[in-house]
Amino acid sequence: MATWSAPGKVFLFGEHAVVYGKPGIAMAIKPRVMVTVRHSRFYQKPNSPYIAECFRILDIKGSVYVRSQLPSASGLGSSAAVTVATLFAINDEFSLGHSREELAALSHEVEKITQSGHASATDTYVSTYGGMVLIRSGEKRRLIPPENFSIVIGNTLVSHNTAEMVARVADLMQNSPKIADPIMDSIGAITMEAMHNMENHKELGILMNRNQALLDALGVGHPALSHLALAVRSAGAYGAKLSGAGGGGCIWALCSKGNKNRVINAIEDCDARPIVTSIDTEGVRKEKDE
Ligand code: MEV
Repeated sequence: MATWSAPGKVFLFGEHAVVYGKPGIAMAIKPRVMVTVRHSRFYQKPNSPYIAECFRILDIKGSVYVRSQLPSASGLGSSAAVTVATLFAINDEFSLGHSREELAALSHEVEKITQSGHASATDTYVSTYGGMVLIRSGEKRRLIPPENFSIVIGNTLVSHNTAEMVARVADLMQNSPKIADPIMDSIGAITMEAMHNMENHKELGILMNRNQALLDALGVGHPALSHLALAVRSAGAYGAKLSGAGGGGCIWALCSKGNKNRVINAIEDCDARPIVTSIDTEGVRKEKDE
């Protein structure tokens, strides 16, 4: 029996555009997914297409048990965390000998296959290595996390389907490139600006709000996300935007120490769920078997 855990993530800037070679910034967060894999004579195809693909790609049959502190289908990277933890647990339990780099690459492959060919390496990379990461045209750079980076997540409790949202954007890219291309360029430019303004919270907040408006223009917004983003900005957050695929799921808000509680209350007043968390600098890791 082998148990591995991997962290979730907040997509800080650049989701969707990163699938088309633009830069993206994401950060691993504390809630984790735990996956236990064991040899078993009785193989039952897992319900999760991500887990099923992990077993298929490694050509292994075994049993799997998942415990998650992350809400699923919410933009916090639960599919990537499940994929990463499952691949590492299979590798360990069946002594396959793959390196961390190989398993990170395989995790990206699993996401791509499960999302009809459209997936950046962001979620799986962040889940594998932890910390804050800039992804740009396939290159990955670990960033020094800014000081006093105080965030609150708001979960709309509207579940979304990443593959569907990614397909919606692919459709727009194919059918209306004159509209979609400049939006992608602008998101890319915002992400690079954000990179240079990580310590300047006021400016970062403005960039978050602009990124959110462009995600709306791409068609991946949701009334519940807009409602929540407006509410936390009114409560004093520097900025707010969705995290991940959109169409539901979570927003993240950048706060000062002084207004964190007001932001949390504003999220609860919208019948949404606040999640107070911080960066997880550790990526996938082996857990003690219970
Ligand atoms: C999903 O967390 C982020 C997307 O950009 C897809 C991806 O990067 O694979 C929507």
